[in-house]
Amino acid sequence: MGEIKTKAKGPDTPEKFRLDPEVIKADFPILNRIIGDNRLVYLDNAATTQKPESVILALDDYYCKMNSNVHRGLHTLAEESTAAFEETRKKIAAFIGGVRTEEVIYTRNATEAINLVAYSWGRKNIKKGDRIVLTEMEHHANLVPWIALARETGAELKYISINENYRLDLSEIDKIITDNTRLVSITHMSNVLGTVNPVEEIGRAAHRNGALFVVDGAQSAPHMSVDVKAVDADFYAFSAHKMLGPTGIGILYGKESILERMEPFIYGGEMISEVRYDFASWNDLPWKFEAGTPNIAGAVSFSPALDYLSTLGMDNIRDHEVELTAYTIARLSELKSVKIIGPSDTDMRGGAISFVDKDIHPHDLATFLDSRGIAVRAGHHCAQPLMKRLGLTATTRASVYVYNTTEDIDKLIEALKEARRYFCDE
Ligand SMILES: Cc1ncc(COP(=O)(O)O)c(C=O)c1O
Repeated sequence: MGEIKTKAKGPDTPEKFRLDPEVIKADFPILNRIIGDNRLVYLDNAATTQKPESVILALDDYYCKMNSNVHRGLHTLAEESTAAFEETRKKIAAFIGGVRTEEVIYTRNATEAINLVAYSWGRKNIKKGDRIVLTEMEHHANLVPWIALARETGAELKYISINENYRLDLSEIDKIITDNTRLVSITHMSNVLGTVNPVEEIGRAAHRNGALFVVDGAQSAPHMSVDVKAVDADFYAFSAHKMLGPTGIGILYGKESILERMEPFIYGGEMISEVRYDFASWNDLPWKFEAGTPNIAGAVSFSPALDYLSTLGMDNIRDHEVELTAYTIARLSELKSVKIIGPSDTDMRGGAISFVDKDIHPHDLATFLDSRGIAVRAGHHCAQPLMKRLGLTATTRASVYVYNTTEDIDKLIEALKEARRYFCDE
């Protein structure tokens, strides 16, 4: 794990300690659920994570005590909810490496954050013949907005390929990221393969050629210490719901100098400075990009999620996941019929672990695991081109987080063995 760049240690960085996932589990009410006859084993964290009690209570508290619209009321509730809404923004700015709050834009999710860039920056700056560089391992959220943009503008899409170790092949990067490249957009961590990409290196290649560098951080922000300035990302997109926060709130970090020059994405209330019948001017950053009533409850209840992660420490979270990923890979490797689809070492790899059983369809496997109380994801994981590239239609994916234990993995392995007995008469 040493290769992943971590944030400079600040005064608030917690000491190194070993997470105790059993203790952590107690903070997550849903993990007491019984599914069928079994206590839930939740291994679908790459899709969305569960929420600690502090987040659930904050949501409740917000509606019970503070509910009001933001930035427009003069009464106590409006002032309190505006303060809480903006307080979370400050925490997010600190969480991603200490950026300015002007650079932190609330969106609905990572998907909308990437679309914001594709619409506001892309529609104005990309033209016919320009190149947009992506990778073969992108989630549809970082693929379809660029396909649509290329289709509209006549720009060319070019992909950095993956090698047999499920890592990006950067040997030809200077031929792929060329001086007609206007934008490079890549995932920091693959939701299918678990691969962590060398974003600093790719960012340097983008900037050498004058291209904008966009990072899809949906799978990295929840699992490792991220410093968007060290990465030198022009934009970095992620979702609260994959990092203990509520659904319906995402973040776009963007460099202020670039955001300043961009037109708004959506128009209406909140994002204006002055409106006349024949004229409108835009609000300051970040509100220029936040038209309409935002997800106030979502932002306010994201705050305790960030506190929770910060108390555990992102480096400690990463250590826990590296250990658990290594354990999962070792245990899955005991099963002769199973092939892991992703790097088998844990350096530069996260805890999204895809696999296939040679005889059982991933959907059948996931349904069987559910009957044992184990939640995993099966399918194309919103990465159809990658599946095709790998010659697959689907995989089963187990993805770990702070509350997962080796016992959870043992239950997964036992259930996989049982599935072989059930489907294959073994
Ligand atoms: C790598 C990656 N990017 C983007 C997304 C989209 O996130 P959201 O659905 O929260 O917009 C996901 C969601 O699974 C993802 O895994």
